[in-house]
Amino acid sequence: MADENIIETQGLTKNYNHQAAVDSLSLLVQEGEIFGFLGPNGAGKTTTLLMLLGLTLPSAGSAAVCGLDPVRQAKEVKRLVGYLPENVGFYEDMDSVQSLEYIADLNGMAQGTASDKIWELLKEVGLTDSANKKVGTYSRGMRQRLGIAEVLIKDPKVLFLDEPTLGLDPDGALRIIELIQSLNRDKNMTVLLSSHNLHQVQKISHRVGIMIKGKMVATGSIENLAAEKFGVGEEEYTLEEIYMKYFQEV
Ligand SMILES: Nc1ncnc2c1ncn2[C@@H]1O[C@H](COP(=O)(O)OP(=O)(O)OP(=O)(O)O)[C@@H](O)[C@H]1O
Ligand SMILES: [Mg+2]
Repeated sequence: MADENIIETQGLTKNYNHQAAVDSLSLLVQEGEIFGFLGPNGAGKTTTLLMLLGLTLPSAGSAAVCGLDPVRQAKEVKRLVGYLPENVGFYEDMDSVQSLEYIADLNGMAQGTASDKIWELLKEVGLTDSANKKVGTYSRGMRQRLGIAEVLIKDPKVLFLDEPTLGLDPDGALRIIELIQSLNRDKNMTVLLSSHNLHQVQKISHRVGIMIKGKMVATGSIENLAAEKFGVGEEEYTLEEIYMKYFQEV
């Protein structure tokens, strides 16, 4: 269904030490969207992703991911969602084929099927030439691409990417952004993309949400948010200008 909600939260809240890291969040992400998840450091983005994955329990409220409850059905949610965390860890002594074999094994894939899939993924993320080099020798960009290949091995329906271009050079970042775009376009993957790079987010997101101090202060297409903040006919404003405006008003 074109407009099925892949992510839906109601009053989702996480308190740490009596302070709300995520404060009564209501979020809707539809199937097939790239949703840019924005906000300053400490806004609550990663905490939200962890709750949606069932990796941390909410203090209040509820969430549904692909119609499943991450609290009670965490395992099923993890099967459908590919999660690239802020800092991906690898076994440095393995090469990328071995790393992917390991992940395939964890996901219960048969060796034969996994092998074809692994080479297909290495090609997709542009690591074929380095496939037999140890991950310990990889640059940050190569590691991010391997991280994405790992996430893709189980053919997820949804991707949660937490700052996938952090620390990458402009060309490396662009390649990741284009890869995300092609996964969305060609495989209809829904993407929840947390990032501080507003230029990249603007380039590929269908809608964005701006979270500040645990609250979502704005959600919509960039044109809509521009019109909301700067007036109708002012849709040319960049996401950076829009973001700063919201940020300054909180
Ligand atoms: N395990 C934890 N224990 C206590 N406080 C935490 C924990 N995890 C996060 N927090 C706090 O929750 C708030 C939100 O953090 P979170 O990591 O979700 O922010 P973020 O939006 O992902 O930030 P960034 O852009 O820096 O990654 C912060 O104030 C943080 O200090
Ligand atoms: Mg974070």
